[in-house]
Amino acid sequence: MRHLMSPLDFSVEELDKLLNLANDIEANPKKYAHACDGKKIATLFYEPSTRTRLSFEAAMLNLGGSVLGFSSADSSSAAKGESVSDTIRVISCYADICAMRHPKEGAPLVASMKSSIPVINAGDGGHQHPTQTLTDLLTIRSLKGRLGNFTIGLCGDLKFGRTVHSLIQALIRYPNIKFVLISPEELRIPDNIREDVLRKNNQEFVEVASLEDALPELDLLYMTRVQKERFFNEEDYVRMKDFYILDSEKLKLAKPDMMILHPLPRVNEISVEVDEDPRAAYFRQAQYGVYVRMALILTLLEVEVC
Ligand code: CP
Repeated sequence: MRHLMSPLDFSVEELDKLLNLANDIEANPKKYAHACDGKKIATLFYEPSTRTRLSFEAAMLNLGGSVLGFSSADSSSAAKGESVSDTIRVISCYADICAMRHPKEGAPLVASMKSSIPVINAGDGGHQHPTQTLTDLLTIRSLKGRLGNFTIGLCGDLKFGRTVHSLIQALIRYPNIKFVLISPEELRIPDNIREDVLRKNNQEFVEVASLEDALPELDLLYMTRVQKERFFNEEDYVRMKDFYILDSEKLKLAKPDMMILHPLPRVNEISVEVDEDPRAAYFRQAQYGVYVRMALILTLLEVEVC
C-alpha cells in the first residue's frame, strides 16, 4: 500500500506516468466514469479548503465513487480530543482512501503509520502540499509542453507557503531550471529549503525583493498569497499582505508568453484585471487539479483502466 506525503514519493518516471494518465482522463473522461464504482474517499480536513477538498471529491465522483468526510476540526471528534491516529484507524473501516489536511506539520504522516488505506497529504501546516505540486506540474507540462528549461519566479510568502516548498523540491529534478525567489526579507524561503534542497543539489537560484526587476527574465511566475493563518500577530500580516500586487501595468515588463500561476485562493496579490490576460493560467490550473487527483486516486488504489 502506498501513501503520498511529499512530491518526492514519486520518481520522475512515475510522475510522467501519472501526468500522462491525467492527460488521458482529460481527453477521455467517459472511459474513467466507472473506474471507482463502489469505492469511497474520505476527506479529512482539519483546516479550511475550497479547491483541494472539493477537487478530491469531484475526482472521486467523476470516477464513479462516493465521498464522505469533514471540512473542519470543529465538526469532527477532534473537537473532543480524538487523536489523528485514532481517527485514521476508524476511517480505515469506512473508506478505501483518504485525503487529509491538517495545520500540524507531519500529521498526515502520523496518520499514514496507523492507516490500512492510502493516505494523501492534502497540506500539512507550512510544510508540504504535494497534490498542489502535481497540479502545478500538470498545468505547466500541458500548457508549455515541458517541465525543464525554465526560469521560474516564485513570489510572495516563501516562508510559510507550503505550495512553494513542494514545487521547488519537485522541479529541481528537471534540467536547466533557474529559480528567482521573490519575497520581502521577512518572508524568505526557509533555511532547510535553501540549504538542504537548493544548495545541496547545486541548484541555480537567486533571492530578490523586487518583482519588477525580476519580471523581464521569467518564463513562469508563481504568485502566492501571504499566509495570514501562519502569522503570530495581525500587525505583521497587515504590513506584509500587499507587498506584491501583480497588475496589467507591471505585466508590460514580462515576456509575452510568460505563464502566470497561483495555487489560489488569491487575496490582493493579483489584480482581477490580470484574469483577462492570456498569460493568466490560474483558473485552468484549478481545473487540472481535478484530472491529476483522479489520476492519483487510480494510481494509489491500483485501478487499471484499459
Ligand atoms: N490551492 C489550495 O490548496 O487551495 P485550498 O486551500 O482552497 O484547498
